Amino acid sequence: MSIWRKKPIAAYQAEATKSDLKRILSRWGLTSLGIGAIIGGGIFTLTGIAAHDHAGPALALAFVIAGVGCLFASLCYAEFASVLPVEGSAYAYAYGTIGELFAWFIGWNLILEYMMGATTVAVAWSGYFNKLLHLFGIHLPDNLVNDPVTHGGAAFNLPAFLITWVITAILVKGIKEAASTNNIIVVLKVAVVLFVIIAGAFYVDPANWQPFIPAEVMGEDGHLHFGVGGVLTAATIVFFAYIGFDAVSTQAGEAINPKKDVPFAIIASLIICTLLYVAVSLVLTGMVRYDALDLKAPVASAFSGAGITWAVYLITIAATAGLMSVMLVMMLGQTRIFLGMAKDGLLPKSIFGKLHATYKTPYRSTIIVGGIISLVAALTPIDRVSEMCSMGTLLAFSMVCLAVLILRIKEPNLERPYRTPFIYFVAPAGVLFNIFLMTQVRVHTWYTFIIWGVLGVIVYFAYSRYHSNLHPKSEK
Ligand code: ALA
Repeated sequence: MSIWRKKPIAAYQAEATKSDLKRILSRWGLTSLGIGAIIGGGIFTLTGIAAHDHAGPALALAFVIAGVGCLFASLCYAEFASVLPVEGSAYAYAYGTIGELFAWFIGWNLILEYMMGATTVAVAWSGYFNKLLHLFGIHLPDNLVNDPVTHGGAAFNLPAFLITWVITAILVKGIKEAASTNNIIVVLKVAVVLFVIIAGAFYVDPANWQPFIPAEVMGEDGHLHFGVGGVLTAATIVFFAYIGFDAVSTQAGEAINPKKDVPFAIIASLIICTLLYVAVSLVLTGMVRYDALDLKAPVASAFSGAGITWAVYLITIAATAGLMSVMLVMMLGQTRIFLGMAKDGLLPKSIFGKLHATYKTPYRSTIIVGGIISLVAALTPIDRVSEMCSMGTLLAFSMVCLAVLILRIKEPNLERPYRTPFIYFVAPAGVLFNIFLMTQVRVHTWYTFIIWGVLGVIVYFAYSRYHSNLHPKSEK
């Protein structure tokens, strides 16, 4: 059946040698993009709720669990990126191994990861930006910094809307501008994270780490909190903090030496961020008792609690800038995935495949992506979008783990510049881990996820199937 048709691996490999995008990204440039996408709202915001409500000092353990789960996926992504160094990421990997409908479905879900990820971060950015303005005594009206659902009545999240257009403009201008902007932000945010770890260490009171895993209790909301179950819930929450390492795989078309450097950058950025996250968690829960942590800005508040008020400015500025680079890489990734899908005919080439004559960027696609994100960010509550982002990502991660195993079995002799170690353990563990985390997400998110999936299948049968380059009647 045509839904199982596959794009030949050789076709991908030929495509990889003649990318029209500018190849300017080195190994560390790619790693910086990975870090740029990873460190953001997760560490600066979600740590509060994860420790306060679910894990206590074992927040660090929750980060280790989520990090190990992501490591399985990253090792599988790395092998694929070395075999198929093209911009489509998980979508392309599925197209080369499992089949067209499946690949389309993954691409459709990657929209959740990248577009909804960028949307979540745009809203988080607005929150931090607003906090920054407060530090300088500026107060915007409530209905200009909230969405109409949460605020009730006429409201529009203006900062979230505007920042999306700033990022869109940088992305239209070029990969060089995007990478340089990202590098500056990454240096700033890694420096501030290191500052938090080193300066914060002097304020740690080891008594705050006792008990490391608080005993399970029934909360007022009728749910169990803390204990081992609480650590797992916290791992599901902080999973969001790791999203982004896979975005490196969408930059294969802009990498100087994609077969070697993309796998390196995927794994390196994840390992660096895992170490930073675990250290920040230990410092944070050592500085402030978990039940006294601030839920909105836990890291900055820990420093104001310790009396280092100037650090609050520093952390708030770094978080505000840091969130911009997450948006930048997420939106960049989304347009590159669309480019891959358009090249295969599954999306209209004239919109998603068209490169700007001078800038060599997919400018039409970038403007459409920016337009959608800016509106959704201005009008929707953050928790709805962030859960959809996690669902799409988890599905993509589990499918990549499955697909890499299938390719190993079906094409054992393919040239693999990078091979996933212990693949018969790592790939199944990655599938199970990511599916387990999906089961932890709230029921109403599942409903929205299913509706989104059905919509995707309808679009496939109405458009993509007939316009695919692999369709017999299509003009190639
Ligand atoms: N990992 C990214 C963040 O935490 C999505 O903001």
